[in-house]
Amino acid sequence: MAQVVAGVGCSHVPAVGVAIDKGQTGEPYWAPYFAKVEPARSWMAAVDPDVCIVVYNDHASAFSLEVIPTFALGLAAEFSPADEGYGPRPVPVVEGHPELAWHLAESLILDEFDLTLVNEMEVDHGLTVPLSVLYGQPEAWPCRVIPLCVNVIQYPPPTGNRCYRLGQAIRRAVESYGGGERVVVCGTGGMSHQLQAQRAGLINEAFDHAFLDRLVADPEAAAHIPHVEYLREAGSEGIELVMWLVMRGALDPTVREVHRVTHVPTSNTHNGLLILENA
Ligand code: DHB
Ligand code: FE
Repeated sequence: MAQVVAGVGCSHVPAVGVAIDKGQTGEPYWAPYFAKVEPARSWMAAVDPDVCIVVYNDHASAFSLEVIPTFALGLAAEFSPADEGYGPRPVPVVEGHPELAWHLAESLILDEFDLTLVNEMEVDHGLTVPLSVLYGQPEAWPCRVIPLCVNVIQYPPPTGNRCYRLGQAIRRAVESYGGGERVVVCGTGGMSHQLQAQRAGLINEAFDHAFLDRLVADPEAAAHIPHVEYLREAGSEGIELVMWLVMRGALDPTVREVHRVTHVPTSNTHNGLLILENA
């Protein structure tokens, strides 16, 4: 059977992707951040998963306000990097896993998670930046990727609890697949940030660490954090953190925290990277 071997939470700050693409990671602004993520890259190289299920939000690249799927699963054989206004990022095309993705679709929908199925889609910084953080600049991404988009752009996003339950269902789905794939589930976005209006620039490190503590040790409690608490404490884009709950749901109730780093500044976001393994 296929199995979920670990979970990763990772911010998806676009400027981090630009720094990697332009060879600026050694510059004074970026060097401290990239030094912190280096151990995660070694961990990723050692674990070497066959597949990453990357839970991320599309930022009006593949979907606009005309169509807003709450959960959308990517079934294609490949996904090209989206042009987000400055040309597509110079990163490899993402190779999908249609067979496992269709198995997930069937298992999850029959498990009463009504996903939107996507056969053609470009992927934006929400998905490609975490891959760059975890893998650097390879010729081809070392794993296959199944994109799972979550709407956190247009109110109402799904609840944290719904995301957590979806993660649990993803684990059941993976474990009912006949292949031997070793799967990492990656929740992206967050931590605290607000990109707009009066509170633009908001960072709340205390909330973020309390969130990570709860996510690791008491995920049921983390799953019941209401939207208004994310908005108040972590800013309007801090709601992206609900996607980390999908990752957490795919793991055991008790996990081992392998790696946790956070960093300010990276653009406007308190940048976090968390690696969890089943204990
Ligand atoms: C930033 C962070 C995001 O999550 C995003 O989608 C866009 C920008 C930022 O910090 O600049
Ligand atoms: Fe984002």
